[in-house]
Amino acid sequence: MVLIELVDVKKRIRNEEILKGISLKVYAGEFLSIIGASGSGKSSLLYIMGLLDFPTEGKVFFKGQEIEGTKGKLISKIRNESIGFVFQFHYLLPEFTLLENVMIPMLKRGIDRQEAEEKARQLLQRLGLGKKEMRKIYQISGGEMQRVAIARALANDPEVILADEPTGNLDSKNTQMVMEIFQEINRAGTAIVMVTHELYLAERAHRIVEIRDGEVVSVKAS
Ligand SMILES: Nc1ncnc2c1ncn2[C@@H]1O[C@H](COP(=O)(O)OP(=O)(O)OP(=O)(O)O)[C@@H](O)[C@H]1O
Ligand SMILES: [Mg+2]
Repeated sequence: MVLIELVDVKKRIRNEEILKGISLKVYAGEFLSIIGASGSGKSSLLYIMGLLDFPTEGKVFFKGQEIEGTKGKLISKIRNESIGFVFQFHYLLPEFTLLENVMIPMLKRGIDRQEAEEKARQLLQRLGLGKKEMRKIYQISGGEMQRVAIARALANDPEVILADEPTGNLDSKNTQMVMEIFQEINRAGTAIVMVTHELYLAERAHRIVEIRDGEVVSVKAS
């Protein structure tokens, strides 16, 4: 099953074409990585895949349904229920506890507090942060924040996780930990799209898409 499909997607900002006609499918359950030099358009592509931004030209489908900027309600429903985001600047709330940060997406979806708390607790335990659940975000390390961001991304059992340089600021130990968590999540059935600079990390995926100057230059099985 195809989860996300981009058809000839172009993105222009001012006079610059930063995506030049990208066609790409993300399949349910797959692990896809996107590599390319700085400025090649990886983040821009990920924002469009995550329905956080829209193409200037071309089409985007989520599970066969065409996404247009005007379908605001549908778009927020898909974003809240089907997509988990892990970005380098994690958008965690620094003054809130780990537990609260993971609960927020569930509360937004209308899940009751007790249930959300129970699930958040389980997720934090799974990511090795059970003992720190009552700490505030500013009281933990960058690697731990990245794991909180993953726990939060998993809160609503998404069908796909989109991760932009999820190991970008991490040392090798935390990088390995995050990669293992992604592989475990993927084995459990969640599709993952991971942007990375590092070929050796990209190679852990099933497919590697290489972007250069806003174009797909190769798609390889890994
Ligand atoms: N909001 C914006 N306004 C103007 N130009 C932008 C904007 N966002 C991105 N760009 C430009 O689009 C191009 C692609 O940017 P993008 O952030 O997608 O690259 P990237 O591959 O993610 O790079 P990096 O590896 O450094 O994160 C760059 O030339 C960038 O300067
Ligand atoms: Mg980027």
